[in-house]
Amino acid sequence: MKKLAPLLLLILFSCSSTKNVIDKNNVDPWNYSITKNLVAQKGAVVSAHPLASAVGVAILKKGGNAVDAAIATQLALAVVYPGAGNIGGGGFMVARLANGETLALDYREMAPSSSSRDMYLDANGNVVQGKSINGHLSSGVPGSIAGMFASMKYAKLSFKELIQPAIDLAEKGFAISEREASSLNSIQQDLQKYNTQPSAFLNSKGWKAGDTLVQKDLANTLKLIRDNGEAGFYKGKTAELIVEEMKRGGGIITLDDLKNYQVKWRTPHSFDYHGYTIVSMPMPSSGGILLHQMLKMLEDKPLSSYGFLSPQAVQLMTEVERRAFADRAEYMGDADFYKVPEAQLTNESYLKKRMNDYQPGIAGNSTQIKPGVLPMKESEQTTHLSVLDAEGNAVSVTTTLNNSYGSKTVIGGAGFFINDEMDDFSVKPGVPNLYGAVGGEANAIAPGKRMLSSMTPTLVLKDGKPFIVVGTPGGTTIPTSVFQTIVNIIDFGMSADDAVNKPKFHHQWLPDQIDVERSFPEATRIALQKMGYTIKERGSIGRTEVIKKIPGDGMEAVADKRGDDAAAGY
Ligand code: GLY
Repeated sequence: MKKLAPLLLLILFSCSSTKNVIDKNNVDPWNYSITKNLVAQKGAVVSAHPLASAVGVAILKKGGNAVDAAIATQLALAVVYPGAGNIGGGGFMVARLANGETLALDYREMAPSSSSRDMYLDANGNVVQGKSINGHLSSGVPGSIAGMFASMKYAKLSFKELIQPAIDLAEKGFAISEREASSLNSIQQDLQKYNTQPSAFLNSKGWKAGDTLVQKDLANTLKLIRDNGEAGFYKGKTAELIVEEMKRGGGIITLDDLKNYQVKWRTPHSFDYHGYTIVSMPMPSSGGILLHQMLKMLEDKPLSSYGFLSPQAVQLMTEVERRAFADRAEYMGDADFYKVPEAQLTNESYLKKRMNDYQPGIAGNSTQIKPGVLPMKESEQTTHLSVLDAEGNAVSVTTTLNNSYGSKTVIGGAGFFINDEMDDFSVKPGVPNLYGAVGGEANAIAPGKRMLSSMTPTLVLKDGKPFIVVGTPGGTTIPTSVFQTIVNIIDFGMSADDAVNKPKFHHQWLPDQIDVERSFPEATRIALQKMGYTIKERGSIGRTEVIKKIPGDGMEAVADKRGDDAAAGY
């Protein structure tokens, strides 16, 4: 076990390392640093962990493109960032290829075939607290591995090459950061409670920064996937281990559920904002439509003249966030199961009218401001990675287990956490989920349905070419963080670094309050309270990863200061 010496923005792990595939690509699991901001000429990867970003760049250097790098980075995150990086969850990829094609890949979890609308209610119709969040019954059928194999269509290297760094990291181990040690310590009791077999994450003495985390079971699972492809997860031994785990712990995922899991290629949700083209994720993520609604409600307002984080700017942005989230609660869910009125929700005159009752200087309230009348009725842990390569391929991936470490259940013998994504459904109309979000019919549970997401992997194109690659974790704060990052760059003219790292705030209709980070300016807080707003201080909002093209050559890669997030490039 190695001691770790944290510096301000640089953490160095000192130790000799074994020679393996990772080392050959200058990725040393015991000796790595966190770079928050860099300028790269050829390609860059920003993700939640320095080892994962380094794996991504090693793949780019090896001749892979941004899709290859995104796959390898996701697999590495599943090892080095077990709280959110995953093979037991799901996610979305938005990409713009060098040939101009845009893609949206949905590998969100699906509700198991024997799930039902009221499965988290007791005999009196009340929600059983925690049942949709912890333990085996909270899991949807994982989509991550199917998503990675689907995106291989656009990759250049073999899957074997992309998965090997993750296998090495799992098998030989890596030094954990202070943040990871503390995070693993915080779930030790949950691990005892929600696991039926011991796992690599248990540590009765407590984890310390610099300890080596070795995950043999996970390494074996990754090898099965390497050797058998998608079937190495959805069929055979891994599938059997998942189903046995479900049976031991009262879960309902079956072998057929795993065999029948399917990704969906979607049409990206695209629109213009101040001359830029925004490309984001459509349903079953609310992210793209919320972003569209918020930016369009704002577009004709003199936002930049108000000044960044001024009371006027924050009020205006809060009120557009409130209205978009009210619509989310009423109208949004898996569009394959429920007719989501996407065109009406993003109709320009509807969005203009939506702001008719906005009163500068006076707080709106969510009792009066309801979901809009349309023209015609028709859980914190997630992780994001941004990649841009030398050819101009841009990939934005957000992937999740939902809550930190998902359901807290490790699949016995297979070594990975399985998600608690079922909580993203509306378990009962009007009852808030993990993120305090409410929903109704549109997002009710049904077998095979995908739970509504907030994940917002996004690209901003300038003159049709990638300009910004952006995304973040953070549950319902995801669309507002992406919204604010884009507005910070486009409207307030900020650098990518400031756009990511300056204080963020969040309003989601219900609860009727503005959440602010600790560093949010005091004077603006007081001014907003005088207008009638309730302000609630909370921990950090999001961990936004941005790559922004620099005019001419090169790109600026910025990792959020709020975590171990790291940029890598060359
Ligand atoms: N589980 C968080 C989300 O999908 O929005």
